[in-house]
Amino acid sequence: MKISVKKLHPHFMAEIDDIDLTETLSDAQFEAIKVNFDEHAVLLFRNQLISDDNQIAFTKLFGPIIKNTNYHRPGEILRISNDLSDVSNLDHNGNLLPLDSGRRLHSRANRLWHTDASFKHIPARCSILSAHEVPPVGGNTAFADMRAAYDALPNQQKVELQRLTAWHSIFYSREKIGYTDYNQAARDEVPPAQQMLVRTHPETGRKSLYLASHISSIDGMTDNAAQELVETLIAHATQPQFVYEHEWQVGDLIVWDNRYTMHRAMGHDDINHRRDMRRSTVSDEINSIDLQKEIDNRAP
Ligand code: OGA
Ligand code: MN
Repeated sequence: MKISVKKLHPHFMAEIDDIDLTETLSDAQFEAIKVNFDEHAVLLFRNQLISDDNQIAFTKLFGPIIKNTNYHRPGEILRISNDLSDVSNLDHNGNLLPLDSGRRLHSRANRLWHTDASFKHIPARCSILSAHEVPPVGGNTAFADMRAAYDALPNQQKVELQRLTAWHSIFYSREKIGYTDYNQAARDEVPPAQQMLVRTHPETGRKSLYLASHISSIDGMTDNAAQELVETLIAHATQPQFVYEHEWQVGDLIVWDNRYTMHRAMGHDDINHRRDMRRSTVSDEINSIDLQKEIDNRAP
């Protein structure tokens, strides 16, 4: 059966129907999904009551999985496979996490606009989030199209941003929400990573802003100037015309492209209301600066 595609936003975001992710996809089916992923950057699939193994198999079609290494909470008993990141507020027994839980506090930074794993030298290509239990109120996720946001910048600013490189650190975004409880081993495991501030799509040549609350500094700028620039750009890029906010239903699954979008959790009463979301993450092949060098070196 052929998939059907419904656009949900003028710039990005499409719903894909007539597909069952509990089944093994044919090459043609995955190719059709891939074409839509490249074009729309965020894809929603509804009514997918999938197992974790289904999600892992689907994820591997996009590329190699970044495992959850759990560097920041050694010894924690995982609720689900470490091929997935547990984005829930539940412990390994399925009970609500206690108030002072490190995982709860660490995850709170998901409420800041970000892109996944830009703090790794080779960052994430895409993430896949599935909804298993949703709270009665709140818990939406917002996405922003960084291609459309780049296109809308004044030409002069596009030129100024073109060659800038930024440092991303997971500990920086956590510090922003007041959580700093990481030991040296955790900090050594995930050192800051340097990325382009403007990305170029290797095939289409289309540019996009590569922003995240993980950005701690920009080369050649004072930290104050860098923070001011990042805040201004994030405010620009998350204006309503670039944003789609998703209200989850159980069985929803969303794939987003971390290279060309940002996202954030809109938050909910995570002390009283259960929310069981499971994320798988696919690694990109190359650091964004190395990719830009490759593109620059191509024969004209
Ligand atoms: C994530 C994330 C947002 C949410 O899993 O990477 O940012 O709404 N999740 O849970
Ligand atoms: Mn995220």
